[in-house]
Amino acid sequence: MANPKTLTLFNSLKAKGQPIVMLTAYDLTSALIADEGGVDAILVGDSVGMVVLGYENTLPVTTDDILHHCRAVSRARPNVPVIADMPYGSFHVSAEETVRHALSFIKEGNATAVKVEGGRKRAHVIRALIDAEIPVMGHLGLTPQSVNKLGGYKVQGKTDDQASKILDEARFLEEAGCFAIVLECIPEELARQVSSELTIPTIGIGAGVGCDGQVLVFHDLLGLFDKIRPKFVKRYAELRELSVNAVSEYCEEVRTRAFPADEHTFHGKRAEPEQTIHVEKEKAPEGYLADLENGDKS
Ligand code: KIV
Repeated sequence: MANPKTLTLFNSLKAKGQPIVMLTAYDLTSALIADEGGVDAILVGDSVGMVVLGYENTLPVTTDDILHHCRAVSRARPNVPVIADMPYGSFHVSAEETVRHALSFIKEGNATAVKVEGGRKRAHVIRALIDAEIPVMGHLGLTPQSVNKLGGYKVQGKTDDQASKILDEARFLEEAGCFAIVLECIPEELARQVSSELTIPTIGIGAGVGCDGQVLVFHDLLGLFDKIRPKFVKRYAELRELSVNAVSEYCEEVRTRAFPADEHTFHGKRAEPEQTIHVEKEKAPEGYLADLENGDKS
């Protein structure tokens, strides 16, 4: 295995002017795909609530949800840092409770860092996390956990006042010790300015090409999720359509008895039934799996 990538890569990529690639993942399969595809970091985003769990927004996502999906992602043993999104409510009550939740993501979920939405308002919890040696990624601009307060998913930072507030919050997050900041749905010009003023990297989503890196939601990139199609998403594949077609073909083949064909079928030796009965116990699972994988035709 190549040397594992660590969070220090974020700074060195920014220093070299090389874009950082982040992608969300929520389970073993998506983590294996993201890692093999060559990303620099995996985010177990609270977007899991929308693209996997079927919620209208990210607000209902719990710490148990994030922990469950962090564990699944970590079982892929990715070569890159896994960043756990602090879900709504997990960092709003007290610094102590915030650190407890974050520690569970690190200790039980095997995450490397956490992401927290918001700026100055979250100062004390961000500082408490960093004091507990937990690396923190900030998140400014359109913060989806504030959807009710913002009145919907709208581009942020369009006026001069809003833009200077976002710049100020970004400076604050850098000073507070965040190792990177997600900038979501802000004008490209503002994202460029934030990125050039800060020494820590910015990771954009809907913030243009001037950020130090980009992040997308796994299901959006692969064209698996159709409920919302934001302008900033590029679908690099149309797997939903491919998948629906594959399932239709399966339905058709089962109904016409075209599936399973002989190559998917095991055959028994009727004359020697005891051969299949007298399998050494400890060898049974291995032999069993070999049969399933190779398609025993005996
Ligand atoms: O939850 C998520 O996927 C996110 C990214 C969009 C940044 O927060």
